[in-house]
Amino acid sequence: MSKIRNIVILTGAGVSAESGIDTFRGGGGLWEQHRVEDVATPEAFARDPDLVLRFYDMRREAIQAKAPNAAHLALARLDREWPDPLLIVTQNVDDLHERAGAKRVLHMHGEHLNAWCRACDVRSRWTGPLISRPACPRCGEKALRPDVVWFGEMPYYMDEIFAALREADLFVSIGTSGAVYPAAGFVRNARDLGAATLELNLEPSQGSLWFDEARHGPAGELVPAWVDEMLTARG
Ligand code: APR
Repeated sequence: MSKIRNIVILTGAGVSAESGIDTFRGGGGLWEQHRVEDVATPEAFARDPDLVLRFYDMRREAIQAKAPNAAHLALARLDREWPDPLLIVTQNVDDLHERAGAKRVLHMHGEHLNAWCRACDVRSRWTGPLISRPACPRCGEKALRPDVVWFGEMPYYMDEIFAALREADLFVSIGTSGAVYPAAGFVRNARDLGAATLELNLEPSQGSLWFDEARHGPAGELVPAWVDEMLTARG
């Protein structure tokens, strides 16, 4: 472990579960109240924009009332104290990594607290509702949508993520079911490129067998313990 310099961390809904944010595929998860195809596809938005905007307005409001948990805080500590390259790639659209203090974070599935103007292609910080069709602060058009990557759309930052995976000594996946590509394939990309791989998840994910090591339990316990190990080994 002391030889590890370059770390890429992938996080998913499980890292925010202990903050009270529903996972996607867990019991009582988001998709039980809403079918994916009703709220998280470009087709759904074209068919029933009010439903989609109302749904994301509700989520945007809800996440602002949540707080980072021990897993976010530990990752922020690692980001702060790790002297070598480190990247947190999150599939989460909440801002809990940032609110915990992490800086080296990429949101590959977008962010709840951004609105994307389809008229001028500019993204703006957005904490309020979109259902009232507010004007874009940049161009004034009423063409804002949630800046969230829907099924069928291309995730963000793929070039940066693959560049980081190429350099990684260690790839760690935290709180993700391994059900959604391309993120689910990162472990194999990282392995092929020579990185050691570690899974930290409540239960074995769909890709568990691809990892060199898997630890199962709540992120709020596993992640602080792993961060302690890393920083101790690094000295
Ligand atoms: N600690 C660690 N892991 C947990 C915890 C916890 N407290 N609670 C749940 N988990 C695990 C679950 O066991 C599951 O394997 O987190 C994983 C969450 O999986 P999903 O709900 O599928 O979420 P995620 O993998 O982030 O989904 C990927 O799918 O719907 C899309 O765009 C959406 O970004 C999302 C993507």
